[in-house]
Amino acid sequence: MLETWHIHHGDSLLWLPTLPAESVDALICDPPYSSGGQFRGDRMGGTAAKYLNSDQRTLYPEFGGDTRDQRGFFAWCTLWLTHAMHAMRPGAAFGVFIDWRQYPVLTDAIQAAGLNWRGTVVWDKTEGARPQPGRPRAQAEFLVWGSKGPWTLAGPPMPGVFRFAPMAGGAKQHIAGKPLPLMEALMPLCPEGGLVLDPFAGSGTTGLAALNTGRRFLGCEMSADYHAIACRRLAEQPAQTKLFA
Ligand SMILES: C[S@@+](CC[C@H](N)C(=O)[O-])C[C@H]1O[C@@H](n2cnc3c(N)ncnc32)[C@H](O)[C@@H]1O
Repeated sequence: MLETWHIHHGDSLLWLPTLPAESVDALICDPPYSSGGQFRGDRMGGTAAKYLNSDQRTLYPEFGGDTRDQRGFFAWCTLWLTHAMHAMRPGAAFGVFIDWRQYPVLTDAIQAAGLNWRGTVVWDKTEGARPQPGRPRAQAEFLVWGSKGPWTLAGPPMPGVFRFAPMAGGAKQHIAGKPLPLMEALMPLCPEGGLVLDPFAGSGTTGLAALNTGRRFLGCEMSADYHAIACRRLAEQPAQTKLFA
C-alpha cells in the first residue's frame, strides 16, 4: 500500500533540521500567529480567551507557542522558515497563513530566510467572522505565498481570494482550525502525488486536505492533544496509510 503520511510529536524548530534536504514539494502551513491583542498582557493570555467568543472557550484544548512579541516572532519565524527551506526542493512553493497584525513581520521573516515572496492570497471568512461593534468585521486572513527560487509549477490559474466560512466543511477541531475546503483549494500549490509539509499541524486539516486531493503529508505538532486529534483524523481518511512507518 502507498505510504502517505506522518505527523511528528514535538517542537518543529528541533524537528525541521532533521529532514532530508530538498525532500518536500510544498510548504503549506498555519503557524501560531502570536497575535490576539494590542498589548503584551493580551498576547500572553490563553489561546481560547484570545481567539474564541466566551461561549466557545471550553470546546477545544489550548495550544502553545503563541505569546512571542514581534521581535521574538520575527526571529522565530526566520529560524523555522530557514530550516523548512532547506527541506524544500528547488522551486517548491510555499503558503503561510497570517493575520493583519503579524503580516509585516512574517513577510520580513520569509525574505530573511531566503525564500522568494511572490504574493498574498486573501481568505475571506464571510460574515461568519467575529463582528466588532462600530468597526469593520475581522473578516480576512492572509496566505503569504512564493517559492524556493524560480517558480516551477504549471497548471490552471488559482484564485487570489478564497471565500469560506470558518466552519465550512464541518465543525473545526482546533481553536484556530482552518476550514477543510479552504485547505483543499490550496493544494494545487503542491504537484499531485507530492509531499506537503506543515510544521504546525494542529488538528491535521492541512494533512487531511493533502490526502483528500492525492498528495502525501508530513507534519509536526507540539501539543499532545492536537497531535492525537490530527493522527486520528488522518487515520480515518479512507485512502491512506502511514508514511515512514
Ligand atoms: C494555528 S494552529 C494550526 C491549526 C491547523 N491549521 C488546523 O486546522 O487544525 C498552530 C499549531 O501549532 C502548534 N505549535 C506551536 N508551536 C509549535 C512548535 N514550536 N512546534 C510544533 N507545533 C507548534 C500549536 O500547538 C498549534 O496546534
